[in-house]
Amino acid sequence: MNTNKILKVSIVMGSQSDYKIMKRCEKILKSLGVLFESRIISAHRTPKRMFEYALNVEKNNIGVIIAGAGGSAHLPGMIASLTTIPVLGVPVESKKLKGLDSLLSIAQMPKGIPVGTLAIGEDGAVNAALLAASILANNNYKIKKKLKRWRISQTKSVKKNPK
Ligand code: RP5
Repeated sequence: MNTNKILKVSIVMGSQSDYKIMKRCEKILKSLGVLFESRIISAHRTPKRMFEYALNVEKNNIGVIIAGAGGSAHLPGMIASLTTIPVLGVPVESKKLKGLDSLLSIAQMPKGIPVGTLAIGEDGAVNAALLAASILANNNYKIKKKLKRWRISQTKSVKKNPK
């Protein structure tokens, strides 16, 4: 990795159908001025694409990977096994088990290969983007400033009175 270059976030998802959730990451990253790319990579349907991708993340100046998948969601763990770049997993809601399968598949990684696991669905996608931005903000003052502003506006949006 070229340490002088601005690092970006890579958003990957197991299927086009995951995009309705994963596009929430894009919205947050855009609002924070964080560079990102988005890709569809399936661990079981496009395994060669996944290998190729994971082996080139450092070269491509990616600082954090957000991987969303549903069902037997092995994509985040498989990518994490191929790189030491931090991987944040977003469990996408599945048709049969409402995403509990996705959540457990991503969270229950055996020790040695960590995947930071977020909540199921949109909340997870939004928080994954915020967390990815926080990680990059350690070495990027502009992102840190935008993140702080984002928090302030969130605080201001909470009314004191329910009526
Ligand atoms: C997973 O299977 C994907 O991440 C997606 O959440 C789920 C269903 O995929 P599609 O049948 O919609 O392509 O691999």
